[in-house]
Amino acid sequence: MDKSLSAFRINNERFRANFETLAAIGATPDGGVHRPAFSDAHLDARRWFLERAKQIGLDARVDGAGNHSAVLRCGRADGPTLLLGSHLDSVPYGGRFDGALGVVAALEVLQIVKEQGISLNTHLEAIDFTDEEGHFANFFGSLGLTGKLQPEHMQNPRGGRDRFQEALRRAGLNESSLFSAGRDPETVAGYLELHIEQGPRLIESGMQIGIVTSIVGIRSFKIRFLGRADHAGTTPMGKRLDAAQSASSFTLAARELVMKEFPGCVVNVGNMEFEPGAFNVVPHTVTVALEFRADDDDKLDEMETALLKQASIEAQRFRLDSEIVFLDSAAPAHMNKQIQEAFANASKALGLKHTFLPSGAGHDAQCLAQICPTGMIFVPSVGGFSHSSKEFTEWEDCINGANVLLQAALTLAQ
Ligand code: HGY
Ligand code: MN
Ligand code: MN
Repeated sequence: MDKSLSAFRINNERFRANFETLAAIGATPDGGVHRPAFSDAHLDARRWFLERAKQIGLDARVDGAGNHSAVLRCGRADGPTLLLGSHLDSVPYGGRFDGALGVVAALEVLQIVKEQGISLNTHLEAIDFTDEEGHFANFFGSLGLTGKLQPEHMQNPRGGRDRFQEALRRAGLNESSLFSAGRDPETVAGYLELHIEQGPRLIESGMQIGIVTSIVGIRSFKIRFLGRADHAGTTPMGKRLDAAQSASSFTLAARELVMKEFPGCVVNVGNMEFEPGAFNVVPHTVTVALEFRADDDDKLDEMETALLKQASIEAQRFRLDSEIVFLDSAAPAHMNKQIQEAFANASKALGLKHTFLPSGAGHDAQCLAQICPTGMIFVPSVGGFSHSSKEFTEWEDCINGANVLLQAALTLAQ
């Protein structure tokens, strides 16, 4: 890289002040944030993003899938754009770093390039993707941008269709606008994302930067166990068609099955909805939220077959029926080698200890990797905690990550 470019650093104080302002939006008393996609807090955070973009003098945009962007035009008028970003939504009662760090860092990188008058050949765009956490559909915004959003995503949104449509209305979107977000891959030079690791590997090994090599694939389903409502006091135990029994039994069996047959893979039952949901009624229906992950498609196929078969076994065991509803799937992805190298060079130049590692968490980067060269870096998570208010990263590590992002972006946009 041009020697003079390697001297640029992000503005620490401004970066931190912006991060803190954002963390106050939807803040929870225990230091986390509650910003599920399209909630009031999430929409407030997105308004903050647009205001920041305008303050910096960037071109603020919202696409048909609700992705929020701030663009700095640097290259030829019809040249491609390098995207930098992450997401401002959170899981329910999540942490302040997941997603937000990458978005604030992306804005900071663009602000440095603009105020320093750095000349580049590629346009830069800071982007906040819609619903990365899958409140309605996993990676909703990045699927929209990559043209992979399917009508099926709209039919069975997590959280139900009525709530989904209401959420779109509140955000000024509609189902037909979603499909207009697709971009021509020729216009996208690449995608870079800074994120917290969300696990213990960096902190335990004393590494400062993790360069992501690949991202896990994820599939999700709803499994409905269908029994019969009965009086909980008068119906003999042996005569019940109790949906709770199959749901519970399936949850334990799924864990055992994956630990035994699919080492290194994971399964999660993250929710159960009981109907009618009363102390004194045997539940006639329990809907189980199932998600599983593996690093290759064949393994995902095998897990899907085995887990869905197990659901049917557990239904029969308690004389119930079952229904399976497919929700969404994200393919596993490899990160671009040239971008990994740019991150490694930037880490070395900044004197930071780095390592290479696969991601067990899902990220918008795995969708972007389908259409453009894509790379990600992680910074250490204290205790490895994430998707909880315990999530924490030392500020110095956040600064390191943002500087590696800046340096890699300058290299790749030259
Ligand atoms: O679920 C995930 O892995 C990510 O945090 N969305
Ligand atoms: Mn997350
Ligand atoms: Mn995230």
